[in-house]
Amino acid sequence: MNQTPDNLTSRREFIKSTGKIAAASALAGVAIPHVHAAESNTIQVALIGCGGRGTGAAANALDVKSVPVKLVAMADIFEDRLNGSYDAVKRHSAGQVDVPQDRRFIGFDAYKKAMDCLKPGDIAIFTTPLAFRWVHFTYAIQKRLNVFMEKPLTADGPTSRRMLNLAEEATAKKLKVGVGLMSRHSRALQELYQRIQDGEIGDLILLRGYRMHGPVGSAFSEKWPGKPSELLWQIQRFHSFLWASGGCFSDFYIHHIDHLCWMKNAWPIKAQAVGGRHYRGNAVDQNFDNYSVEYTFADGAKMYMDGRCITGCNAIYSSYAHGSKGMAIVSKANDCGLPSSTYKGQNPDRANQLWVSKVSRDEQDPYLNEWNDLIDAIRNDKPYNEARRGVEASLVTSMGRKAAHTGQEIAYEEMLNSQEEYAPGIEKLTMDSPPPLKSDSDGRYPIPLPGTLKHEEYKA
Ligand SMILES: NC(=O)c1ccc[n+]([C@@H]2O[C@H](COP(=O)([O-])OP(=O)(O)OC[C@H]3O[C@@H](n4cnc5c(N)ncnc54)[C@H](O)[C@@H]3O)[C@@H](O)[C@H]2O)c1
Repeated sequence: MNQTPDNLTSRREFIKSTGKIAAASALAGVAIPHVHAAESNTIQVALIGCGGRGTGAAANALDVKSVPVKLVAMADIFEDRLNGSYDAVKRHSAGQVDVPQDRRFIGFDAYKKAMDCLKPGDIAIFTTPLAFRWVHFTYAIQKRLNVFMEKPLTADGPTSRRMLNLAEEATAKKLKVGVGLMSRHSRALQELYQRIQDGEIGDLILLRGYRMHGPVGSAFSEKWPGKPSELLWQIQRFHSFLWASGGCFSDFYIHHIDHLCWMKNAWPIKAQAVGGRHYRGNAVDQNFDNYSVEYTFADGAKMYMDGRCITGCNAIYSSYAHGSKGMAIVSKANDCGLPSSTYKGQNPDRANQLWVSKVSRDEQDPYLNEWNDLIDAIRNDKPYNEARRGVEASLVTSMGRKAAHTGQEIAYEEMLNSQEEYAPGIEKLTMDSPPPLKSDSDGRYPIPLPGTLKHEEYKA
């Protein structure tokens, strides 16, 4: 099963060369020579974290047309999640799913067993909550696997530093790494980025992101109901707990923060913020229900990220960039919704419109684009590693969250160098482990207390 790096190179060469043979043959009008393409050419994929996004990511992988892709192994900590995901992917692409019972793995070590089914050069998909990213990425690098991992990548300083080192290691081994910040693969945002760099709206001085709607996901939780175990329950409700996800701030707001910083071509150097919880009721989670973060870039430009999870308020879910000559609608709706557009002056009026994006039908889905781009890099051995950028986006997001949770100004370097690790020892978890976050005798968890807790987001 195992291949040496040399075999890996020749496999890549083989994929490349069969691509060339096919193209040349088509041009010459002769039959394609018989090669064992179906077997040797195929990229195998293992899915680790078989929930909503994992199922979607596996389907996206199987939708790539440039090379045969097959799902061969799956891992989760819940059997029902794995089986539900298997059924859904099988319905989507029956012929590309080959995951018999003995390649379906359950448990905290399931990730290893699933990756053991792959060969170097295949792809491991990480779509668990973020707490497990560095653990899974470490093993993938050891096994010389390419990786697609979902955002966010980290929620604290120590794991960010660890992931930055792993990112370098992956590059040194020429592994290809995709990160699920799919805005970066929106063809509209790519063109907008170029237009902004070319000066279409002048120097960027203000960026604004809004994600405001009612409560979603598992952001708000009432007391642990007694089963499954408290650890498994916290993982199921990962948006509620900073150790598992960075909370709703990191999980929900990272897309706007990432793509607005991309437009600015810089990461902010510091953040200050307000936020609080208007409605707590019986909830015991660690989130605020509203956040407004002001980020500052080195040149003094500002970025605001407003997030709210409250029913009955004005709902806004879009992002904007303002320059010295004009403005842009970056995401018209949701995380990176089409179309993007630019305007003369600061009002997005039709009369002032300079440009509106037009994207061909087959490239309108950034979730599919990110897979086509990753697989193109693998086939053609192009440098491709989004891990560093994914960690930086995660850190900037954590910096804003921590500013709101502590009521202090937080600098990028301070976030990066922080010693606070939210889930130390996570690599040793078993089904019987206690959860990383302990409740009090009343079943409540520690929450942020801005101004009272100034250096830490909560007192564990
Ligand atoms: N890019 C996007 O637009 C986007 C959209 C949704 C979710 N996501 C990200 O994808 C990740 C998963 O989100 P989701 O909505 O699919 O959540 P989910 O709860 O539906 O799925 C997570 C799955 O991982 C499993 N899991 C948890 N810990 C595990 C472990 N240690 N080993 C193996 N399996 C484990 C869970 O049992 C579950 O089946 C999150 O990081 C989220 O931010 C990204």
